[in-house]
Formats: sequence, C-alpha cells, structure tokens
Amino acid sequence: MNLILMGLPGAGKGTQAEQIVDTYKIPHISTGDMFRAAMKDETELGKKAKSFMDKGELVPDEVTNGIVKDRLAAADTKVGYLLDGFPRNLSQAEALEQITADLNKPLDGVINIDVDPASLMERLTGRFICKTCGATYHKLYNPTKVAGTCDRCGGHDFFQRDDDKPETVKNRLAVNEKMNTPLLDFYGKKNLLFNVNGNQDIKDVFADIKKILTPLA
Ligand code: AP5
Ligand code: ZN
Repeated sequence: MNLILMGLPGAGKGTQAEQIVDTYKIPHISTGDMFRAAMKDETELGKKAKSFMDKGELVPDEVTNGIVKDRLAAADTKVGYLLDGFPRNLSQAEALEQITADLNKPLDGVINIDVDPASLMERLTGRFICKTCGATYHKLYNPTKVAGTCDRCGGHDFFQRDDDKPETVKNRLAVNEKMNTPLLDFYGKKNLLFNVNGNQDIKDVFADIKKILTPLA
C-alpha cells in the first residue's frame, strides 16, 4: 500500500502513523522526523531545516522534495510506504507525481485526518514525547498509563518539541491552513482522497482508518 497521511499540525498524523505502520508493516516516512533527525546530527540539512522549523515556516520545496525522492528510492518501499507530512502544497504534490511515476510506486490513497482547527493549539501545546523511543503523548488526551513512564519502552525522559510553543504553533497553523484546501482538491479530483473524522478518540480514529485501508491492503 502506497499512502499519504494528511492533516493540519496536531491532527494526529504521527499518532495514527504509529498504528498504521505496526498493522500494515509499511515504512513510515515523515519529513518532520527526517528534519529533526538531521537537526540532532547537526548536518547541513539539519542546520538549513532548523532556520525554517523554528519559525513554523515550510522548509523550501527543493530541499524537501529531494529528501523524499531519495527516501522513496530505497528498497524497503517496495512493500509500500506511508508518507506523513508530505506533500504540503501543490508544488510538492506535483513533484511527488513525477517521483512516484519514475519509481513506479503509484499512490493508492490519501487519508486526511480532519480536525476542528480550534482544538489544534491545545493538542500541540499539551504534547510530550518519549526521548528514548519517540512515542507521542498528551497531558490530557493521551497520558502515559503510569505517570512518568513511557508505555512503549519504559523510559522516564520526555521532552516538548521546540516548535510547540504557542507563538510558533500559531504560525504553523496559519501556514498550513492556507495550503490545505488546494491539496485536498488536488487529491479529491484524482479520486484518491479519504476523509476521516479526527475529532474522536485516538482508537476510534484508527478504527475508521482501518475500514478504509482493509480493502486497499
Ligand atoms: P511535522 O513534524 O510534520 O509537524 P506537523 O505537520 O506540524 O504535525 P505534528 O507532528 O505537529 O502533528 P501530528 O499531526 O503528527 O499530531 P500528533 O499525532 O503528534 O513538521 C514539522 C516542521 O517540519 C514543519 O513545520 C516544517 O517546518 C517542516 N516540514 C515537515 N514536512 C514538510 C514539508 N513537506 N515541506 C516543508 N516543510 C516541512 O498529535 C498531536 C497531539 O495530539 C499529541 O499530543 C497527541 O497525543 C494528541 N492527539 C492525537 N490524536 C488525538 C485525538 N484523536 N484526540 C485527542 N488528542 C489527540
Ligand atoms: Zn518510550
């Protein structure tokens, strides 16, 4: 299965991606995660990405398209892929058309997690992440089962993302909201788009995603 997971910042892409890749055994390709890994390693890519991510702006298309092209060319995507956070604008969507055609790995579907924008600020500012394994939690909506201990790996260290400060979140939402509708239209016209109600509990969102993916698998 070759898939895109779409949704505004905080819609739950990373949360649902964890469950999708566990269930369907396809690689998770998150441009945000790739940029954060490069930032941690202090590579040239990381330094470049940081200057945009810190402001909540998009990393330039030529940089982002390049890393996706290289990643999709890797052998492990023969079994499928789940793109998370890419594409984010029409120019990236057009670049992806070319990349998937060249690699003969055409898209099977685009899942859009649709969430009332008013709740996104609260989701992002309440998010915390396990330092050891990257599992994502929320202080109100998705806390760890035992306070201070990661459910997945037992780790005790957590952090908040730098771009989850309220001022940066405001800009991320504004930047992404502007580009979202044209992208939904683009995939809607190709009959690839599936909308999922993301204003539900995490497990109910995943149940709806499974209903969509089962016939495609
Ligand atoms: P990226 O890392 O992709 O961030 P994002 O799109 O802003 O999305 P998030 O990761 O913040 O949210 P999410 O939808 O994954 O939500 P989550 O599951 O964590 O990108 C970061 C930056 O990198 C961008 O700003 C840009 O600079 C750059 N970048 C990335 N891709 C790019 C591209 N293609 N082009 C250019 N630049 C790019 O959930 C959020 C919180 O809500 C969590 O606490 C979670 O526990 C909770 N939650 C999840 N689901 C629910 C639910 N159903 N109910 C209640 N709470 C929930
Ligand atoms: Zn963990």
